[in-house]
Formats: sequence, C-alpha cells, structure tokens
Amino acid sequence: AALLGDIYRNQLGGDASNGGLTRAMQLACQRLEGAFTLLAVHADQPDVVVAARRNSPLVVGLGDGENFLGSDVSGFIDYTRRAVELGQDQIVTITADSVEITDFYGAPAEGKEYHVDWDPASAEKGGFPSFMEKEIHDQPDAVRQTLLGRSDIHGKLTLDELRVDPELLKHVNKIIVLACGTSAYAGQVAKYAIEHWCRIPTEVELSHEFRYRDPIVDENTLIVSISQSGETMDTLMAVRYAKEQGAKTVSICNTNGSTIPRESDAVLYTHAGPEIAVASTKAFLAQITAAYLLGLYLAQLRGNKFQGEIKDILADLGKIPAKVQRILDNEAQIKELGQSMADAKSVLFLGRHVGFPVAMEGALKLKELAYIHAEGFAAGELKHGPIALIEEGQPVFVVVPSPRGRDSLHAKVVSNIQEVRARGAKTIVIAEEGDEAVKAYAEHVFYIPETPTLLAPLLATVPLQIFALALASAKGYDVDQPRNLAKSVTVE
Ligand code: G6P
Repeated sequence: AALLGDIYRNQLGGDASNGGLTRAMQLACQRLEGAFTLLAVHADQPDVVVAARRNSPLVVGLGDGENFLGSDVSGFIDYTRRAVELGQDQIVTITADSVEITDFYGAPAEGKEYHVDWDPASAEKGGFPSFMEKEIHDQPDAVRQTLLGRSDIHGKLTLDELRVDPELLKHVNKIIVLACGTSAYAGQVAKYAIEHWCRIPTEVELSHEFRYRDPIVDENTLIVSISQSGETMDTLMAVRYAKEQGAKTVSICNTNGSTIPRESDAVLYTHAGPEIAVASTKAFLAQITAAYLLGLYLAQLRGNKFQGEIKDILADLGKIPAKVQRILDNEAQIKELGQSMADAKSVLFLGRHVGFPVAMEGALKLKELAYIHAEGFAAGELKHGPIALIEEGQPVFVVVPSPRGRDSLHAKVVSNIQEVRARGAKTIVIAEEGDEAVKAYAEHVFYIPETPTLLAPLLATVPLQIFALALASAKGYDVDQPRNLAKSVTVE
C-alpha cells in the first residue's frame, strides 16, 4: 500500500482521473516480486476498484450493473454465475458496469469468461448447524455428481475433458500424485487402486517436499495433482516444477477456473460443489472418486482391464452414494460417541492397506476440528513402536478391512485390535456389516455397508468425519473455521 501510494502521489501527481490508480498499480506491480493479490480503491473515485494478481488467485464476477472481485467464485455466486478468470500478472479495473484487463505494462489483455455451474443454495448451510455438517451430508451427491456423465452404458469411460493425447498416456511409466492435507490422503488411497488396475508405479508425495529433493521426472511421468481449491501454493509450485521437467500434468480439482487446473495440461473436475468449511470432507470422497475414474481410464486405454471389468467397478462405484447415505442415516451412534469423548486427550487410528490413509485422514479431522492430539498408523507398524503409546483407557480407532478380502489382512488387523485391547485400549472399530469377528474385542463397533476393498475408504471415512465433528461441537468449537487454519493456503 505504501509503495502504491508513493507512486501514485509522487510519480503520477496524485491524479485519480484517467486511470491514474490503474497506472499506479501497474508501476507498483512491475517492482514487486513473489506472490500477491492486491486491491486498491481511491477516496476520490470510490466507484473504481483496481486489482492485480501474480501467483495468487483473483476472479472477477460479472453482474448486472455490478461487478465483483474474489479470490474464488464462492465469494459472489449468490449474485452472479458469470466469472472471468484473470491470467498471471494481470491487472483488472472494475466499476459497476465495466471491466478492463491489462498486463503489468498496460497492454490490454483478454479475460476468459466462464459460467459457474454451482447452485447458489448449495453454498448455504441448508438447515444444518454448520457447513461442515452439511458438507458431510452432501457426500452422496458429491460422489454421484463426480461420476455423472463420465462413462457410457457399456462401461466405457469418456473423459473427453482430459484432452491429453492418448498415445502419451499409453507411454506413461510412472505416476506421481502431488497434494497437501486431506487431498494427499485421497492420493494415497488412489495409489492402491491405480497400481492395482494399471500396473503403473505410482508415488504420492506432499507437494512441498517434492520439488526440493531432486525428483526423477521426465516426459513419461504423469503428474496428478489433487487440490480442492486449485490454489494451494505448495501444489501449484510443485506442478510448475514438474512441467519444467517435461512431465504431463493432470489436475484433479473442485474449483472451476482456479490456477492449478489452468496451468495443468488437463483437468478432471470433482463435482462436489462449493466446500466452505475449512477442513475438507466431501472433496475427499469426490477426489478419490475422480482419481479412480482416471485410474480406470488409464487401465482402459492401456488394455490392463477388460471392458467388462471396468464396467463392474463403475457399477460398484455407482452404488457408493446410497451406501454413504445409509451411514449418514445411522449417524446417531457415532455422534453420541463423539459427544461423550469431549475430554479425550489423544486418539489413535489404525488402518491397513487403503485403511491406512483413512486412519490418517480420521486423525487429521480430529486435529483440525477438535485440537486433540491424534495419529494415524499403519496397523502393521503397531508392533514396531506405536504400541508403546497404549495405556489404560487410550482410545484407538481401528479401520478393519473386509473379511471377504484376500491376503488374510482382516485376521491381521483383528489381532491388532486384540493386542491394543489387551494393553487397556478403548477400542472403537469400523468394520463391514456382518463382520462378527470384531465384536468380541471392540468396545464400540460401527458397521459400514459391504463394498469391494478398494472402494471401502469412500465409506469408512464417513464415521470418522462425523466423530470429529461431534466431538469438536461438544467442546463448543467453531467447526467451520478452526483456529489457525485457512481453506486455501496461497503461501508456501
Ligand atoms: C488446507 C486446508 C485443508 C486442505 C489443504 C489442501 O490446509 O485447511 O483442508 O486439505 O489445504 O487444500 P487443497 O485445496 O489443495 O485441496
């Protein structure tokens, strides 16, 4: 602000007319480095707003006799669905009835207008006490919408929007998933499915770690970034770095027109609708769904799976929304448990295979919402250290794989429950309906509907979200705006 004021007064003589403020913004931006979104208004011309962006989000909303600026469209979708995305290093000058875009040197630039297809009502709480609770309840729809229109009746995936040369995708020999927070756990879940279905080595890496370790990336590497907001700076920077190394980049994103999809070669949108609560819930389920569609598409393209197999998996995915709804319809039991545990000091989560990232996501929800120490562990790792944490009364959630799955994982996890129980843990078990074996060792059991192992995270996560929400609400915390956290982290 000081720089802008200085330029405006001393270089331009303090004249706000004839675009003085816009000119001052251009001159200021030429001297700035790094990432910023700036907005300026002058008292002499209160009907003009000038804004600029570099490496940080800025969107214009086009209204009727009114225009808007926001870091994303949720700021103005109550007023208009028409939005203009600003490019990198651009300045926009708006009045109630005009929008002019230039670059930092004053050359006119074109903004790309697009329609926001979010329903404005969905940005409100819909009768729930918090956005968080509403968004947990939006999950059947989030999955349904993400699946919608992406395959034909023969189970053939038609991801037209991907627009990456199929030949290139056929030659991919490594996938690296880049993301942060909850989105990174969605990536970890997807890794199991993608490797299993496509036989492509798949790494999942936190975006902020990735580019500082000299990663091996080349033109046969497919980068899949996952971001709800599409604005997470760590992920954006990692994607840019990978692009520079020649990798192909696909973005899985929930926010139309945001920066990461814009800078990626292709985008697969999750259609979860606006996610307002800071801690992510419905975006997580939608991200797993979208990543699975991508995995199946690659398998289809590369011939790893017969069309019939893909069709069957899509059919199972299609049943997920109704199953999530059943969990939500029976939420009272897990809510009560959450409310009754408001005094807990620490909660541990164990899971194995796809249940491992689910355990970590369950722990993250509790940290974010209830400010309780929580850790998710791979159940197999228990004996290598974490078991030392178990003492009388320690709450331990265990995400149990289906007894119908292969490799006797179920039996191994059940024996983990026994081990912690024997040391005094209070065991809370998420298991598949009909799994009687867990009952003997569980203080509480929450049953989720039967589903193939790889799809189970789409169900098992839901009770953990409800638990964290109920516990945090019982403590009187603001579950939509947890302390110290931001929805879009646009700094590194
Ligand atoms: C922030 C949010 C998290 C989110 C993470 C990644 O830390 O508080 O809920 O998971 O960013 O955000 P993204 O928009 O990239 O998915």
